[in-house]
Amino acid sequence: MTDQNLAVVVLAAGQGTRMKSSRPKVLHSLAGRSLIGHVLATAGQLAPSHVIAVVRHERDTVVATIAELMPSAIIVDQDEIPGTGRAVEVAIAALPEDFDGDVVVVSGDVPLLDAETLGALLAQHRTAAAAATLLSAIMEDATGYGRLVRGASGELDRIVEQSDATPEELAITEINSGTYVFRVSPLRQQLALVGASNAQGEKYLTDVIGLLRASGAEVSAMPVAEGWMVSGVNDRVQLAEAGRRMNQLIVQRWQREGVTIQDPTTTWIDADVTLAPDVEILPGTQLKGATLVQTGATIGPDTTLVDTEVGPGATVKRTDATLAVIGENASVGPFAYLRPGTYLGADGKIGTFVETKNSRIGAGSKVPHLSYIGDTTVGEQSNIGAGTITANYDGVNKSSTVVGSHVRSGSHNVFVAPVTIGDGAYTGAGTVVRKDVPAGALAITAASQRNMPGWVAANRPGTAAAKAAEEAGE
Ligand code: UD1
Ligand code: CA
Repeated sequence: MTDQNLAVVVLAAGQGTRMKSSRPKVLHSLAGRSLIGHVLATAGQLAPSHVIAVVRHERDTVVATIAELMPSAIIVDQDEIPGTGRAVEVAIAALPEDFDGDVVVVSGDVPLLDAETLGALLAQHRTAAAAATLLSAIMEDATGYGRLVRGASGELDRIVEQSDATPEELAITEINSGTYVFRVSPLRQQLALVGASNAQGEKYLTDVIGLLRASGAEVSAMPVAEGWMVSGVNDRVQLAEAGRRMNQLIVQRWQREGVTIQDPTTTWIDADVTLAPDVEILPGTQLKGATLVQTGATIGPDTTLVDTEVGPGATVKRTDATLAVIGENASVGPFAYLRPGTYLGADGKIGTFVETKNSRIGAGSKVPHLSYIGDTTVGEQSNIGAGTITANYDGVNKSSTVVGSHVRSGSHNVFVAPVTIGDGAYTGAGTVVRKDVPAGALAITAASQRNMPGWVAANRPGTAAAKAAEEAGE
């Protein structure tokens, strides 16, 4: 149910200078989602009637991402006046005139904050009928954050930014997370009074806290249990740290859902991955995008799956797969490379040093060793001999190979596409299949073998090979 008295403002106009990147900061990714993607997902869980995103730096790129993730979000462009206060001021100007509810302000660069914490903040704010409630944290190293300055009786007085703080204020470890709830009318009133006479020459949102307090309004802070929940990503060290935290949360969530994860520190799971109970994940595994793994499957070690579906009971070992579907009880790897469009049926096998692309390998069929299978359909219960290559590309066009069911192809074949091998057919070792093979036929292209007795003794006298042949009595 939409909360008609709730708007969320997502701040995403800042430059993110410290990332030293051509990509806008909020579009850097964490667990397969952009930073702003995490924030929008969390904001959406509060079911606000309005989500407003404030943009400026690289606005078109940022807007494109927001529009894709949350088409209903209102985009507001910040003008040349810098600062978080200005950002919020332009954002709330976009709200309908009759909106008289609460405004949650979150930063596009604080990805780990979860909806429960934000919901608790909103609940405390509403229970206290406060003008503003902010989320605070105790940080061992508070460098860079705004500090909470409290009065003699412990009440919150104001926030001072790092660059404006006195040495005494810098020693404060209670910090402003940059996440707040405001009642819209006092927020609007006080923002109009905020100036930019500070070290950064910016219109600070944090100044609203002190102004509200001075006006006698109810202002309070709610501490988060653990500081990392509100840590902002300002540089790539913090990006990696936030990524590690988020991964830990995701891994533990799946462990509690019944997934065995042998080594959480080397297992990386994206936010949009789905795992079933009794999946087992071995060290060095990355599960990315919309990957789905069904019950009883074993993944890893050393496997990367991107947007890949793995059926119940399958095993996928030392494999790299993208946009592939692996059937029930099928087996893949070690050392397999499944490119987009690979489909492996139930009980099938894609074995060691095999590359596949845009191919359907039917139930029970096997490509066990050293092969390239591209643009190919294989029926059921067929066995593709070791070292078989589908020659699908003539330098200009890609063509298809069709292999029927119950086919037995010999080792080291080349299937020169377009070509069809009928049901139940056999091919000899080393065959280059250039013409269709009818069902049930044996195809052979190799010339018959000729032995020349005594060739070594005559042509390589005195060599170790000649001596060995002599000792063998030839
Ligand atoms: C801000 C807070 C600080 C707090 C910290 C928490 C202010 C003045 N300071 O500092 O008290 O401890 O967050 O992480 O608010 N942004 C805009 N428009 C702007 C400037 C920034 O939209 O003109 C956005 C940024 O894109 C970012 C967020 O606001 O998403 C915070 O900006 P940032 O520059 O990172 O602020 P901090 O210095 O971290
Ligand atoms: Ca920040």
